[in-house]
Amino acid sequence: MIRVLISENTPGEADEIAHKLASAEDIQVVGYARDGLEAAQMAAQLRPDVALIHTRLAGMDGFQACQMARVAAVETGCVLLAPPGEEDEDTWRRAMVAGARGLLSTEASAAHLLSVVQEVGTAKQSKDQHEYQLVTDPSKMPVTIAITGAKGGIGKTTLATNLAICLQHQFPGQVVLVDFVGQYGDVPLLLDMRPRVGLGELMLHEELDADLVQSHLTEHSSGLQILAAPNGTDIGRMGTQIDVTSAANLVSILRSEYRFVVFDLPALAGNVSAYLFSRCNFVVVVTYLLDLAAIRDTSTLIESLAQTQMPNDRIKLVVNRRSQRNPFSIADLQQTVNHPIDAQVPEDVVTVTSALNEGIPVVLKAPGSAVAKAIKKLCNSLIAELPTQAQATPRAAAQPARDVDLQGKPAVTVN
Ligand SMILES: Nc1ncnc2c1ncn2[C@@H]1O[C@H](COP(=O)(O)OP(=O)(O)O)[C@@H](O)[C@H]1O
Ligand SMILES: [Mg+2]
Repeated sequence: MIRVLISENTPGEADEIAHKLASAEDIQVVGYARDGLEAAQMAAQLRPDVALIHTRLAGMDGFQACQMARVAAVETGCVLLAPPGEEDEDTWRRAMVAGARGLLSTEASAAHLLSVVQEVGTAKQSKDQHEYQLVTDPSKMPVTIAITGAKGGIGKTTLATNLAICLQHQFPGQVVLVDFVGQYGDVPLLLDMRPRVGLGELMLHEELDADLVQSHLTEHSSGLQILAAPNGTDIGRMGTQIDVTSAANLVSILRSEYRFVVFDLPALAGNVSAYLFSRCNFVVVVTYLLDLAAIRDTSTLIESLAQTQMPNDRIKLVVNRRSQRNPFSIADLQQTVNHPIDAQVPEDVVTVTSALNEGIPVVLKAPGSAVAKAIKKLCNSLIAELPTQAQATPRAAAQPARDVDLQGKPAVTVN
């Protein structure tokens, strides 16, 4: 039911309006106001869905009454009614400044009046929409994470896949992993999946929508959703195949459907990488201490991210394949790379390779291994930085880290 308050400038006018509304079963007139102050007061007291306010009310005029009602009854949509011939640009401007949701002639037809009242009166139902939750509840706000690195073979896909599985465990059904590479050890290989379609096929469509994107995802047995890169696609071709506008649409759609969007993303896919980094809550830069070129390139990559005004705390530096046998040390890395180290993942060729060969991510196949533990710790530290319902600010203080046991339940339940 749409509850409507009517006001009138001259006696009898309100009855005429009520008469025009009478044919609609979902509209109920809850009050009649006879001057501006009364209109605002009644709006504040009765909280109608719609207040029809004449522009020329006695005392406080309709614009002022509208402005008052807007502040006193935030959910009431005010529609101003102007005498015929006065719905000009200046009146529209004043109506908008006063916060009106519409402006009509007092002589508008019943059909026109009804359609405006119905449109304004049902606007607050947007609160029931899924999107309203995303907008207002920090604990549901989407989180985008890119796993990148200055070179191939550094451990991006290994990390992206395992991190996505960890997230999926804590947030079942809310995680999608987007494979932007598909060349080296690609995501489907690590997960023993054979997707029929993926990013390449999706990008053949000019207009993307949620259903289309959904139909190009493949579900892993863990529940994780995958948007696979087409087989054999190389980084360069992918970079030129996808334009920034399509990438922007894709991210927006995925963010409205999934809580976590994880990208396995090379730093080299041109503008698309740069754009996607700019939309990420976290950019995880994977590096290792195996060669000097990797260390130098990591430094360049972090500098270039910093140059895009990305806050330092959104960049997470992860040293992969840590071992006593690494030819370079953490100290060597820190001398070249001006960023703190956020995580270290040990080298374990036997465990990582057998997981790869079997197509079972390390965190599932060997959850007790040092590699799995390090990735779970990284996952928890990222989650700990997310705002919760109680902490509405985007960069809120960290919560205590959760301990994830992938075989059982999370030690702390996440809302
Ligand atoms: N922590 C690790 N210990 C041992 N081997 C690893 C580790 N991380 C990655 N690897 C191996 O390194 C190779 C490259 O890893 P991958 O994740 O495919 O890198 P990228 O995606 O950066 O090209 C793979 O063969 C993988 O098994
Ligand atoms: Mg890779």
